[in-house]
Amino acid sequence: MQNPFKYGQIVQADNFCQRQDLVQSLTDYIQRNQNVYVQGERRTGKSSLICETIRRLKTYRMVYIDSLEVKTINDFIKRIVTAIVSMERSSGGVLERVFKNIAHLRPVASVDPISGLPVLSFDSSVQLTPDSIPSVLDMIESINSKRHPLVVVFDEFQDIINIRDFKEALAILRSKIQFHSDIPYIFAGSVRKDMDGIFNDPDSPFFKSSLPLYVGELNRAEFERFLAEKFSTGKRVITPDLLNHAQEMCFGVPGDIQQLCGALWEISRRGDQITQEDLPRALEQVFAHESKGYETLLSIVSAQQFQVLTSLAKVGGEAPTSKAFLKASGVAQASSVKVALNRLMARKIIFFFEGQYRFVNPFFRAWLLSKNL
Ligand SMILES: Nc1ncnc2c1ncn2[C@@H]1O[C@H](COP(=O)(O)OP(=O)(O)OP(=O)(O)O)[C@@H](O)[C@H]1O
Ligand SMILES: [Mg+2]
Repeated sequence: MQNPFKYGQIVQADNFCQRQDLVQSLTDYIQRNQNVYVQGERRTGKSSLICETIRRLKTYRMVYIDSLEVKTINDFIKRIVTAIVSMERSSGGVLERVFKNIAHLRPVASVDPISGLPVLSFDSSVQLTPDSIPSVLDMIESINSKRHPLVVVFDEFQDIINIRDFKEALAILRSKIQFHSDIPYIFAGSVRKDMDGIFNDPDSPFFKSSLPLYVGELNRAEFERFLAEKFSTGKRVITPDLLNHAQEMCFGVPGDIQQLCGALWEISRRGDQITQEDLPRALEQVFAHESKGYETLLSIVSAQQFQVLTSLAKVGGEAPTSKAFLKASGVAQASSVKVALNRLMARKIIFFFEGQYRFVNPFFRAWLLSKNL
């Protein structure tokens, strides 16, 4: 039987643990054409919430634009166009209208040999600039219809700030979007500071343009039921203690918990009861996939960052400038710890949340502890 635990991907339908309040709020926003920005820590389920909510709204069509690691305006605009062209439930004539709207950008259409989906590229002599944004947004407006209304999703929207002309791009984007009063736009992102800069800074063109929706932890009891149910489909029983421990270890992050449950599934068989004693073997299973990555991380950190990191693993990140922490780490100055923490955050190895420094990847922490590093 296939492993029922899914992680590192958008989950929908049976793989989506209910979060009724958020689905309801987002549904209301969409139906009122209210623009929203969806915020939350990494892997908390933002993308899944958005996709599942829209999936349930049967008549709607989603234009899903992923801005992850976008670096140039050229790339950004291409991603918008690609999202439109590859839209699900797309009605006939979309491609023709796309072409008509952006003919001056000289798009070239072809078919992806593997997926069979249409892809658009641009004549390489054409340099797309922020000025090209209005025409792609006009294109979105032109394919919106009452029968199949659009919802436009910009996921990982914070990465737009990597673009050199991002302020200009944001201003143009905003000036167009505000006239699309019958299209709901959803912006999602996880780097809190960057999303805040875009939506809550009075100097930003997006200031007060959208309502916030915060995605926190799943309801623990509900999620534990969901996970236990998945185990039971393979005739396995997981003890409440272990489920609880998994939640704690992963700070309630659903993607990480599902990854751990997936490993517990792999090391167990039909009819098994899975207990705390099975945890080390499951972790070994995770490490087998990830330890190369951990080693790479260790090879790029300085000696002092390494000391701080291993102490964080051992003593936790509530008070990293305390005497006890300094003693554990062997770093003499609190100010040096601060510098190291900032570097580790910049490298996305740790992050600061609810009063403590945490590992982005809880399994990296478990690995450091298991190696007694
Ligand atoms: N409602 C849910 N039910 C069950 N698992 C979930 C749910 N939401 C998220 N997950 C778990 O978390 C993982 C990540 O979900 P998703 O990609 O939606 O999160 P995200 O917040 O968009 O993450 P990122 O910050 O990486 O973009 C999923 O693959 C799944 O394992
Ligand atoms: Mg996401």
